[in-house]
Amino acid sequence: MKVKLSASIMCADFSCLKKDIRKLEKGGIDYLHFDIMDGHFVPNFTMGPDILKTVRKITPLFLDTHLMIENPDEYIPVFIEAGSNLIFFHIETSLHPERTIQLIKEQGAKPGIALNPCTPLCRLNYLLPKVSNILIMGVEPGFAGQTLISTTIPKVRSLKKMIKERNLNVEIEVDGNVSFANAPLMVEAGANVLVCGTSSIFKSKIGIGKGIKKLREVLKS
Ligand code: DX5
Ligand code: ZN
Repeated sequence: MKVKLSASIMCADFSCLKKDIRKLEKGGIDYLHFDIMDGHFVPNFTMGPDILKTVRKITPLFLDTHLMIENPDEYIPVFIEAGSNLIFFHIETSLHPERTIQLIKEQGAKPGIALNPCTPLCRLNYLLPKVSNILIMGVEPGFAGQTLISTTIPKVRSLKKMIKERNLNVEIEVDGNVSFANAPLMVEAGANVLVCGTSSIFKSKIGIGKGIKKLREVLKS
């Protein structure tokens, strides 16, 4: 099955974002990934709904929004109204995940759950059948340019097994240090979507188009 590539917009060149998006479209990217940070759940800030709204107006690409924020329920309607097609909230930030999933569905987007590196998969036991995507963090959330945490690949493999055993149709997305070396290992373990940041297509010598091409080559997909 073709692996989907989701470009991490926080790693793009904000001084010419439209140009980068055109390069991503030309290179055949599948999703745009928006890392939303509030300075509380993670010690960093990135962007808000207005950026997403602007991007929504200039591209038909699927917008994959990763909320790394406290109280996600408060802001989910805002990010869906801005144009998100998929919303990941962190299980660590939701007291009532059933309600959060319901809210995302009611607002017209696909619900996804994100897990920090140390959060066990058992947190998904009663929720897996209710979501369309799971995001496995390969690094502690908050910053690009980090090194893959070694438990990530085995965690993806275990999640894939869980999904298969329960005969569910849930996409596994991996976020963090998706490099040309790590990407094939992540896909072999069961990942369907890879968040591409500075480890592959952004701020690299080869540029966006060649970065996507090289990823497709190493993935043979
Ligand atoms: C972490 C961020 C990064 C980013 C990808 O919160 O989500 O993982 O998207 O950037 P690199 O490829 O530099 O890890
Ligand atoms: Zn992310």
